Amino acid sequence: MNIDKEIINSFVRATERSAYGASIYKGKNDKIAADQAAVDEMRKELNKINMNGKIVIGEGEMDEAPMLYINEKVGTKKGIELDIAVDPLEGTNFTAKNLPNALSVLAVSTKGSLLHAPDMYMEKIAIGPSLPENLVDLDFSVEKNIGLLCEAKNSSPEKLTACVLSRPRHNSIIQDLKSMNVNISFITDGDVSGVISVSRPKSKIDIFLGIGGGPEGVLAAAALDCLGCQMQTRLFFKDEDEKTRAKNLGITNLHKKYNINEMIRDDVIFCATGVTDGDLVKGIRDLGDYFESETLLLHKSSKTNKIIKNKIKK
Ligand code: FBP
Repeated sequence: MNIDKEIINSFVRATERSAYGASIYKGKNDKIAADQAAVDEMRKELNKINMNGKIVIGEGEMDEAPMLYINEKVGTKKGIELDIAVDPLEGTNFTAKNLPNALSVLAVSTKGSLLHAPDMYMEKIAIGPSLPENLVDLDFSVEKNIGLLCEAKNSSPEKLTACVLSRPRHNSIIQDLKSMNVNISFITDGDVSGVISVSRPKSKIDIFLGIGGGPEGVLAAAALDCLGCQMQTRLFFKDEDEKTRAKNLGITNLHKKYNINEMIRDDVIFCATGVTDGDLVKGIRDLGDYFESETLLLHKSSKTNKIIKNKIKK
């Protein structure tokens, strides 16, 4: 079922406001306060929308998150039933240190259509548009995936760039990429933006590889779905406790690989507003009584793909 285009702007307002909330804490070395401000603002805006909304990816489970917790009901309770994935502040470190690429992000789909990824790690591989379907695979070696990508792009490894989150757990991926002379663009945080970079020719990123947050994986999948790109993911468990938690959340096959259409099963909206300036959008500008924001808005069924700039009263 398609989501009515009319409702889209209300979601843009939600990320605009939460980005503004977080931006107050830019460079203040307090990531918890920045996150809380973003959550408070987003929740207020979501509750103004005429919908029966449910948070399916949020700030944690009910007993550990005061607001925007998983299964929290949002909206006026009049209107369409929607499932919502939120990351009011993606890049808490970036905000605390006033570094580029902090975003406020959400994705909206119809009831039951988003993968309920628990707050755990997820393996991710993503490539851009117009490539053969199911070209790369998490179970292939780095060498095989890069080889297949080169063939499809009629290119060679030294002309490709891979985006990788800079973490010791990625040492072996990094070694493999280096041994093939693939260029690496390291990010220190913020893999929603990292994954989305495969869709943007300007970024010159050909592939995203590595392990990051599960919720961030579903949010990035929502964007890539609107942009005709490919992504495959699989939950990555640190210990037995995490496996039990996933089972309790209804995940029966713990080793399942998810393609985009298994993470995003219907129409979807994706909004990302900049908190600090970044690759996708500019950050919040404080204009005294007003603030200025930039939001990437995507909507699958209406093929909306635009940057919205707004000047908003504080
Ligand atoms: P926060 O904004 O919640 O701090 O998350 C940032 C982030 O870099 C995500 O983009 C990424 O998926 C995850 O953290 C990676 O987790 P870790 O820092 O544990 O490797």
